[in-house]
Amino acid sequence: MKRAVTIFAICAAVALVTVAAQAASTGEQIFKEKCSVCHAVKGQGGKIGPDLTKISATLKEKDLKAQLENPKKANPSSAMPSFKTLPKADMTALIGYLKTLK
Ligand code: HEC
Repeated sequence: MKRAVTIFAICAAVALVTVAAQAASTGEQIFKEKCSVCHAVKGQGGKIGPDLTKISATLKEKDLKAQLENPKKANPSSAMPSFKTLPKADMTALIGYLKTLK
């Protein structure tokens, strides 16, 4: 019986670590799916939009959000699509990732 409890505890610990690792990479995954066609980070990605490797050194969270929700606000002829319809959790994860780029 003790052994079963130990095995259960180990499995639970492994599951927790896996979930944490996934949460950390979601924002980056969303970026790779939706943004890297046009934007490069650390040398990887497209060249249609500006390089975002250090974007959080210049843009604050609210500016990032404004750019994502309404790119035409900063530049009326912007080639960047709006990501207003992105699910809230994805937007939060994505902004969280962008904030690490500085
Ligand atoms: C179709 C190409 C395209 C896609 C896809 C795209 N962008 Fe952009 N983005 C641009 C262009 C072009 C600009 C340059 C300014 C403008 O035209 O609005 C830009 C500007 C930006 C800026 C402002 C940069 C600065 O220096 O002020 C940020 C931040 C940004 N994009 C983030 C993102 C994120 C995050 C995504 C994914 C959710 C994304 N973009 C998807 C083309 C794109």
